[in-house]
Amino acid sequence: MINPLHKSNDINRFILLFKFLKPYYLQVIIALIALIFSASIMLSIGHGLRLLIDRGLATQSEENLTATILVFLALSLALAVGTFIRFFFMSWIGERVVMDIRNTVFEHVVELHPGYFETNLSGEIQSRITTDTTLLQSVLGSSISIALRNIIIFFGGVILMLLTNFKLTVIVLISVPFIIIPILIFGRRVRALSRDSQDRVADVSTFVGESLQNIKTVQAFNHQTVAKKEFGTFTEQVFQTAVRRIRYRSILIAVAITLILGAIGAMMWVGGRDVLAGTISGGDLAAFVFYAIIVAMSVAAISEVYGELQRAGGATDRLIDLLASHSLIQTPSKPETISSDGAGQVEIRSLVFAYPSRLKHPALGPLSLTVQAGTNIAIVGPSGAGKSTLFDLMLRFYDPQQGGIYIDGINIKQLELSKLRDLMAIVPQSPTLFTGNVWDNIRYGTPSASDEQVRKAAELAFADEFIQQLPDGYESHLGEAGVRLSGGQRQRIAIARAILRNPKILLLDEATSALDAESERMVQKALTQLMKGRTTFIIAHRLSTVVHSDQIAVFEKGKLVELGEHNELMETSELYSRLARLQFKQPTPIS
Ligand SMILES: Nc1ncnc2c1ncn2[C@@H]1O[C@H](COP(=O)(O)OP(=O)(O)OP(=O)(O)O)[C@@H](O)[C@H]1O
Ligand SMILES: [Mg+2]
Repeated sequence: MINPLHKSNDINRFILLFKFLKPYYLQVIIALIALIFSASIMLSIGHGLRLLIDRGLATQSEENLTATILVFLALSLALAVGTFIRFFFMSWIGERVVMDIRNTVFEHVVELHPGYFETNLSGEIQSRITTDTTLLQSVLGSSISIALRNIIIFFGGVILMLLTNFKLTVIVLISVPFIIIPILIFGRRVRALSRDSQDRVADVSTFVGESLQNIKTVQAFNHQTVAKKEFGTFTEQVFQTAVRRIRYRSILIAVAITLILGAIGAMMWVGGRDVLAGTISGGDLAAFVFYAIIVAMSVAAISEVYGELQRAGGATDRLIDLLASHSLIQTPSKPETISSDGAGQVEIRSLVFAYPSRLKHPALGPLSLTVQAGTNIAIVGPSGAGKSTLFDLMLRFYDPQQGGIYIDGINIKQLELSKLRDLMAIVPQSPTLFTGNVWDNIRYGTPSASDEQVRKAAELAFADEFIQQLPDGYESHLGEAGVRLSGGQRQRIAIARAILRNPKILLLDEATSALDAESERMVQKALTQLMKGRTTFIIAHRLSTVVHSDQIAVFEKGKLVELGEHNELMETSELYSRLARLQFKQPTPIS
């Protein structure tokens, strides 16, 4: 759930839509004029029909007939032009506004603090950006226009009916509820069932997705037979739901035909007797029947789009909520400047931090620690000790509850967020590749780097060799639909990415954990090179990585329990020497 929903608030919705429609007011005006114009033409066709019958047919004059047909053709042409303009501009506005909304929402969401996505499923946010905006698009692009047009036609049609024949109008208006209500009831039932149908189809596709993504697990456990059977149940449910819907729909059609044609028949019977009695003309009756039909159709159309308008209201509310949530991590209004050729000394002062979801149990602290500029510190400790959390705090993904982190004496909360992150590069515990080729992936944090620089970084990270051997070398696609890389290869791409950023402060979270001994030695060499002159934090589980560090910090349960060099700690610290004997490896299920 994203923020508690504000009470469905029409004013907020209106303000949002108005804000997004405002830049396109010209198009909106054109579309509205075209809409009113074509609705009026539609209504005047009834009068044309009257003329055709009374002047053209009843007078037996060919000239009159031709003249009225010409009028009719002119009206049709005007209607076509009006509809063209209305349709084009309405749809254009729908697409355009939704594009703007999508951009605004994404631009907003991508800046939110990472903690936001722990309490709000990213899948739900995705569906807001795609599904909710798509709904909004169909509403802005067509439903609103359908609703407006039919409202005009409805009122216009009723007025013209009254002007044409008062008695018949009263009869029609009284009988309308008896026709409309059963149709609406069946219609609602059909709609509910078709929503059901869609949900069942979604079940099917979730199942297919899960099975196929994990096909190796499915087959390794010989789960196919069970999977086939389960899948059969899902499709059977789709069918059963569809049959229910089809049944109601068939009844709906039959009922509608009976009621509507019956009503038209009754109307013609009453009206026809008046024509025979000479109180109204045949043309009047024809025009009247025409108005009655378009009025009925407009009611049907309005009830059709009404549900969609309501759903769009809900979608708009959800988007408003999303736009109203703000990032907890902000650049201060008057940020301090930090010299980019500053030294890069890092000082952690009495820091205490608990994750928002576990406020009672601090993941870190109280913690104080100083790392001199250009030196490196190894951070070791059992799994869950808070090592990665420290990196999250340095990158300001979260703010500590007490104390702070200071770079060259400045609290990182006082720095411009992007400037702070420009000072650093991280090689995370589980490096991420993005859709794109090797160039894009290494250049991720440094879009301006030249091919030459990228290649150089890859060489330094000992990634160049395996990249050359990929099917398309540096052009090979990585990420979701791309070449699969091994854990160690991913890590080297991530290291190259960090090298390219040329940071002041380097954060390595088990950067060599997924490498075999041979490539670890190579990457280690690369890292030693890279660490020169940079303040480096290395989270490590391997003794070989740690031994040569300037300082070693031993963490346990969020606290700094020992600090010193390898030889010292081997003697003084029981935890350290135990970890060292175990190669710092705790028996973790995943590493
Ligand atoms: N997003 C989060 N929300 C709540 N608790 C978290 C979150 N991330 C980590 N924790 C908890 O904070 C503690 C420290 O986690 P952290 O990831 O810093 O451990 P670590 O020292 O890096 O462990 P490992 O060596 O296994 O990577 C753990 O108890 C963990 O369960
Ligand atoms: Mg970790």
